[in-house]
Amino acid sequence: MSASLSSASSVSPSAPATGAAPTQADLLDFVRRTAADTDLIASLPLDPEGRTWVRLEGPAGSEAWLIGWPPGSGTGWHDHAESVGAFLTATGELKEYSLATRLPTDGWKTLELSEGVDRERRLPAGKGRSFGRDHVHEVLNESTEHHAVSVHAYYPPLPRIRRYSRTGQVLRLEQVERPEDWQ
Ligand SMILES: [Fe+2]
Repeated sequence: MSASLSSASSVSPSAPATGAAPTQADLLDFVRRTAADTDLIASLPLDPEGRTWVRLEGPAGSEAWLIGWPPGSGTGWHDHAESVGAFLTATGELKEYSLATRLPTDGWKTLELSEGVDRERRLPAGKGRSFGRDHVHEVLNESTEHHAVSVHAYYPPLPRIRRYSRTGQVLRLEQVERPEDWQ
């Protein structure tokens, strides 16, 4: 397939399936540019009862989302399997709790984490992060009053999401979601 240069995008003009995969930096650049589109951010319907989302076209075949977070909402602990990704807060503020370790891929149901692997970061509007494969985290809007809106991108498109419960240092695998569960 020949590439089109019809848009002013910074995406490389190679074919998405076999061309250069977007890097974490590319995804972070995309979420930053998208979050700056105030009309788009304002167009996301918000719901005080739960998160809302709209699928976006990510760069070079990546999967992207606009997500609205009412006060007190969160994702629970999860990972993104082999995908790398980036997300950035457009409005409001998010908090990310993450693990500075990679989990064994398969073959376990509970795992006791060692001390010192927990990380947390505050992501006010305009602040984001990228992450590599097997990144484990939980993202929350801890505000009691304000919604938050964020932009997310993943490459390759999420093959699965593993969801965990956590009690102290013990993670328990609760569920594996596949694309048909969220598309
Ligand atoms: Fe995530």
